[in-house]
Amino acid sequence: KTKSAWDKNPEEIIKGLKDVYFDTTTSSFIDGQEGKLLYRGYNIHDLAEKSTFEEVVYLLLYGKLPNKQQLEEFDQTMRANRRIPDEVIQVLDLVKGSHPMDALRTGISALAAFDPEVKDNSVEATIRKGVRLTAQGPTIVAAHHRLRQGLEPVAPDPSLNHAGNFLKMLFDEVPDQETTDLLDVDFILHAEHGSNASSFGARVTASTISDLHSAVTTGVGVLKGPAHGGAAEEVMRMALDIGQPENAEDYCRNILDNGGRFMGFGHRVYRAEDPHARHLRERSRILSEKVGQPHWFQILTYVEEEVMVRYRSRGIFVNVDFFAGSIYYLLGIPDDLFISIFALGRIAGWTLQCAEQFEDNILLRPLMEYTGEMDLEYTAIGDRS
Ligand code: CMC
Repeated sequence: KTKSAWDKNPEEIIKGLKDVYFDTTTSSFIDGQEGKLLYRGYNIHDLAEKSTFEEVVYLLLYGKLPNKQQLEEFDQTMRANRRIPDEVIQVLDLVKGSHPMDALRTGISALAAFDPEVKDNSVEATIRKGVRLTAQGPTIVAAHHRLRQGLEPVAPDPSLNHAGNFLKMLFDEVPDQETTDLLDVDFILHAEHGSNASSFGARVTASTISDLHSAVTTGVGVLKGPAHGGAAEEVMRMALDIGQPENAEDYCRNILDNGGRFMGFGHRVYRAEDPHARHLRERSRILSEKVGQPHWFQILTYVEEEVMVRYRSRGIFVNVDFFAGSIYYLLGIPDDLFISIFALGRIAGWTLQCAEQFEDNILLRPLMEYTGEMDLEYTAIGDRS
């Protein structure tokens, strides 16, 4: 039944907008039953194994895979746009005591003051701004991380790719190829995911004909919560609490007996394994062996295969965040930076979704059934008990 604002008693309330289609998209396809994910028609498994983050951003923003020359030019544009104004560095210095996601949100918002196209909501300008924000995002996160340690920010290095440059700005050291490739895949896997909460939030902002900087700022704010991007940090905290594989059984039973939720499991759409997980699982295994700390992977495997196996019949499987945290941890990345890394990948997806929203806009404004009291008599403040 189509409801209208005049229905005082709607027949059905779809809480959390679960399973509601609100528009069409060409961004990504998700089959939650099968655990299948396509970006612009291409399987995430092919992109994770064969592509690069730069190529995937091009694919998402321009709708097709680039040829060699297009990719080279695009990569150069990304490299040329990494710097952020000194004024934004000063803002980051002022908020250096905040969580990295708060600093990223503030930094992106501050960049609006310096972007010459901030008010232009044409699809072309939105894409150009999205390319700039994708390139500038890592500079914000790395600069804030340096400033909060009392260190000078490290300037972007145009000789390195997107992932390598981010790691260099973070640690002031050129990373090895394996580490760069790990982060590159991680960025690919986080780049786009349909109408997830943060992309929906970004679209709501775009739907008021606000602008991309406001929408990406919204996206960062929505992503921050533990029900969304914050789960990776929580998973690693759980693994650290467990400490050793032999403690996992008691620890997990305690969570389950108390009706707790396992972070890194469950998804609003997938009723099968999240297709991101396999790429991060294998890489987490290899990395934990390489750095001589195999017990983290053993703990996670125990939780997945021995404890959470009983939830599979209810459609609760491992999600993208379960193995991501262990990879960041083993790379020496502080746990409060985990969500920011997710956000840096997702700027491309938010941009694409906003461009779609601007192109065929309708204000996103649903209804809620009122369940409060009605027509109460107003009493003057002096007459109230
Ligand atoms: N551990 C234990 N039980 C769970 C879990 C979990 N991780 N996830 C869902 N359930 C149960 C839940 O208790 C509920 O049971 P019942 O029907 O008996 O009350 C049932 O499954 C449905 O849960 P829901 O919260 O109504 O479902 P949802 O679609 O709103 O939840 C979710 C999606 C991601 C919020 C949830 O699965 C969750 O809280 N997971 C843990 C946090 C997490 O890993 N988040 C990352 C999500 S994927 C990446 C991203 O989006 O950023």
